[in-house]
Amino acid sequence: SWTTGNVIEEQVAAIRAQVGNKRAVCGLSGGVDSAVAAALVQKAIGSQLTCVYVDHGLMRKGETEQVEKDFVASTGVNLKVVDAQERFLTALAGVSDPETKRKIIGREFIRVFEQAQAEIVAESAGTGEDVAFLVQGTLYPDIVESGGGTGTANIKSHHNVGGLPEDLEFELVEPLRQLFKDEVRMVGQELGLPEEIVQRQPFPGPGLGIRIVGEVTKERLDLLREADAIAREELTAAGLDREIWQCPVVLLADVRSVGVQGDGRTYGHPIVLRPVSSEDAMTADWSRLPYDVLAKISTRITNEVADVNRVVLDVTSKPPGTIEWE
Ligand code: XMP
Repeated sequence: SWTTGNVIEEQVAAIRAQVGNKRAVCGLSGGVDSAVAAALVQKAIGSQLTCVYVDHGLMRKGETEQVEKDFVASTGVNLKVVDAQERFLTALAGVSDPETKRKIIGREFIRVFEQAQAEIVAESAGTGEDVAFLVQGTLYPDIVESGGGTGTANIKSHHNVGGLPEDLEFELVEPLRQLFKDEVRMVGQELGLPEEIVQRQPFPGPGLGIRIVGEVTKERLDLLREADAIAREELTAAGLDREIWQCPVVLLADVRSVGVQGDGRTYGHPIVLRPVSSEDAMTADWSRLPYDVLAKISTRITNEVADVNRVVLDVTSKPPGTIEWE
């Protein structure tokens, strides 16, 4: 019968059989899937695994620290963090078009990740333990959607998997191939991963980069990170996390409106709240959040986030709107 205990035992045995005494690399995105996949492989082969986390500077407040500290503490995993914030900001300078942003972020991610992989391979040279495996948090629905991969090097990279090299020279280890999202969360919980990682709502690979309508800059990212953290804090405090699918918080960086704050006129930016209910993100409805929660979020964001003088609520279903603004 299906229990998380059985799944973990089976997968640990399968991973050991597949990897033998070779080494494996796993990219961590901060999301549930890569975290659970890495934790399973860590349980199976321990220090033969090295995880890589590319810090592109587009994460939400506290998320990089969650990976660096809490994930490492709960798994004991070997982690290589690459600080690529400057590199991503430079590559994104002057770019406003959403698809161009996505392409740049995906391209830079692959380059940084490949470089880290190459360094890990170089470090292990001469130890007799080749780095021969790449761990991926592919789920059952990802496989169905991309037409059924076989676990070989040529798997079609799904946009949720997080921009992997197209030309893989590694054999894939995919311990979540038979699981659905809710099962992955249960396995993660059983493995003792932090609640914030296991219960994390969907978050796009390009991160806050596609939640700034306009050019991405360090100042704008910092501002949006604050606003997003406030919205998340209040939604959590109100016990609404499980009711909403996700709540993008969007900065309209190229829009300004007049406001009055303290004893002066302001000319600041609007923040959009986009809380949605959904089953699978293919369709969605805007969440009817309690007015008092919305009021609290609005008051806090306009009080606490410099340069924001207005908070607006997106009341569009999908279709015709998408969940993200870009
Ligand atoms: P949309 O905006 O298309 O979003 O209604 C549907 C779901 O996909 C997520 N999303 C992305 N995830 N890379 C990702 O990994 C992306 O470029 C991307 N764009 C949208 C979005 O957050 C929602 O859950």
